[in-house]
Amino acid sequence: MPIIAGAIARIAAAAQADGLTVDRILDVGSGPGVAAVALAAAFPGASAVAVDASAPLLDLVHDRAVAHGVGERVHTEVADLEQPLDALGAADIVWASMVLHHVASPVDTLRQLHDVLRPGGLLAIVEFGPGARGSLPTGFDVGNDGFVDRHRAAVTAAVTEHLPPGAMTLDWPALLADAGFAVVDSGELALSVPAPLDDTARRYVLQGLQMSQRMAVDRLGADDLATLAALASEDDAHSVLRRDDLTLEVDRSFFLARRD
Ligand SMILES: C[S@@+](CC[C@H](N)C(=O)[O-])C[C@H]1O[C@@H](n2cnc3c(N)ncnc32)[C@H](O)[C@@H]1O
Repeated sequence: MPIIAGAIARIAAAAQADGLTVDRILDVGSGPGVAAVALAAAFPGASAVAVDASAPLLDLVHDRAVAHGVGERVHTEVADLEQPLDALGAADIVWASMVLHHVASPVDTLRQLHDVLRPGGLLAIVEFGPGARGSLPTGFDVGNDGFVDRHRAAVTAAVTEHLPPGAMTLDWPALLADAGFAVVDSGELALSVPAPLDDTARRYVLQGLQMSQRMAVDRLGADDLATLAALASEDDAHSVLRRDDLTLEVDRSFFLARRD
């Protein structure tokens, strides 16, 4: 995923500039460990631990790590980021992508991650960006007029309702400062892939649309739900897997902070 690669390049540059020795990396809220595996590949002298509250997601990590040749250096640990984290052990880099907005008190979790890091260690945060939202690009011509906007509004409403209040607009530089970190790099990580998408990108869009079906069920009318079902189907003639006019836009915010 180019967004992860772009972020890791910035972490590696900061680590090199600081002369940081990277022995141990934590990917917290790792899901299936895509970043843990990429980080282990980028830092060949380090072990990486994928940490998540969901054991079934962590079960997917080992095969991915083996497939990428880093099976011996990638481990897993079930942990809740809202509980004490001392048992995770010390780390030189902590990666937290799209997870900190899930916790009730991000600053408390940031303070814990601060204490997990060795002095000089780096915390990388990937969070909602200011731009592109939703699986379908703006202006994508499908279904009844305005379908994409209604679908995006339905997903945004569902996500906002599911997350703690204000979670989508948190002030990360202020929270990091409160938790004792110094921000050393920040910026937008944007990905824009033109049509026609390759199979990997189409499947990424398909998965997002399939997840959105549950969120949209009470928020869209019958015509829009039928349009969504066709787009999110594996074999419908209108599936995103079959459309050559689909583009992919992803936008994330990136913050890199040091424990001094
Ligand atoms: C949106 S996914 C992000 C996965 C991956 N980091 C990424 O960027 O694609 C959020 C992940 O955080 C995990 N998670 C949410 N709350 C958590 C908590 N309190 N402690 C540990 N993991 C948590 C979920 O199980 C899920 O795997």
